Amino acid sequence: MPARASDFRYSTGDAVVPWAAVGEAPNLDDVMAVIEFLVRPRDDRQADYAARLEQVRTALASLLDVGTPASKLTLGQRVKELEAAVCEKLKCKYAVLLTNATGGFEIAYRFAGLRPGDEVICPAITFISTILYPLAIGAKVVFADLDPRTINMDPDDVARKITDRTRMIVPVHIGGYPVDMDPIMELARERDIMVLEDAAHAFGGWYKGRAIGTIGDFGAFSFHEVKNISALGEGGVLVTNDDRFGPQLSLARFVGLDLSKQIPNWLYDVSALETARGPGVPCNHSATEIQAVGLLSQMRRLDEVIAARRRNAEYLTQRFSEVPGLVPPPGDTEEIKPTWHLYLLQVDPDVLGADIQVFKTRLTEKGVTNIPHFAPLYKFELLQRLGYDHDAIASTCPVAEEVFNRRFTHLPLYPLTDEQVETMADLVIQTARELRAGE
Ligand SMILES: Cc1ncc(COP(=O)(O)O)c(C=O)c1O
Repeated sequence: MPARASDFRYSTGDAVVPWAAVGEAPNLDDVMAVIEFLVRPRDDRQADYAARLEQVRTALASLLDVGTPASKLTLGQRVKELEAAVCEKLKCKYAVLLTNATGGFEIAYRFAGLRPGDEVICPAITFISTILYPLAIGAKVVFADLDPRTINMDPDDVARKITDRTRMIVPVHIGGYPVDMDPIMELARERDIMVLEDAAHAFGGWYKGRAIGTIGDFGAFSFHEVKNISALGEGGVLVTNDDRFGPQLSLARFVGLDLSKQIPNWLYDVSALETARGPGVPCNHSATEIQAVGLLSQMRRLDEVIAARRRNAEYLTQRFSEVPGLVPPPGDTEEIKPTWHLYLLQVDPDVLGADIQVFKTRLTEKGVTNIPHFAPLYKFELLQRLGYDHDAIASTCPVAEEVFNRRFTHLPLYPLTDEQVETMADLVIQTARELRAGE
């Protein structure tokens, strides 16, 4: 029997009896289970489905006859390829594929050396993931008020809320529309504050010639199933251009396991992270090869997906712009290229004689889905239980209160047929007309 190298993570040299990375390899039944999951039978075609599935099974069995099953299922070549593709697309230096964006935030916070008592400024309205790590370790989250046009963080309010204890600023590109990053970066650089971009919605968006997510010290993207493209369900990517942290990203992702160094009589060392404040502890947010395969494949369609979303958004905006009481979101410009993850529709309650709560109910009654998606985080029980005072914080975030209670919702953009988009526009306009007429 010829000797061959093990494909396990440790180099054990050539062996007649090598150690395989994968214990039980995926077989015909496993692959069929995945295919049956990904392609479900249609209610009216159950019999045809069963027959064709059998044909697929036969074809797959014959394919396996001439192929071998995947011999590496996590953190392998496909993950590396994906990371290289991300760096190329975003023109950034370092990227790692992770379980999800939340894992990326955690790694970035760890590299920043965030400690209990530090302050982190984030926008009042975002998803709770943005601040889970600061809350978990007892850092203080400070909520910045919003730009009423975009519902993104307002740089002027960030400036007002910076203190000597501010360690990080976390802009969130809500719906894929870029935060005004120049003033945020200026504030941060003047005071040696680190910036983590929550770019969960913003993969493939641009701000003044730079990819969203690559402007701060760190940026994390989400590839959860609801995003513009996904890593077949869950996934995240953390990027940085910082040479202090970039080369350590994969150590941070997988328990600090360092095969480039060994302790005596052992295969590897476990390295501390060199953070901005001395040694730090790594975590485990490893991603699978299947996630990378799925994401690489969908990345090839990213530009088309964004273009289709943009087309629908532009159509809605063109229909809404002349309608009194409707306030469409800002669109693309030379410098600003959103990803159109969400379509932010606002109403002017004074013109309509009704606020967004009434508007949303009317739209729902007419069969148009619309969801505001994000609420001011200080309203949640978790924050109350940790001692955050709702009324005191709300009084420092008047725009967040106003837009959340009275002005904004999100409309779906994709995948919709032209007919669905047109119907949605008609019904939104009709609702505005009815409310203005006092009906
Ligand atoms: C604004 C925002 N940040 C972070 C996340 C978390 O992303 P993930 O589910 O990949 O951890 C989401 C997810 O929807 C989000 O909407």
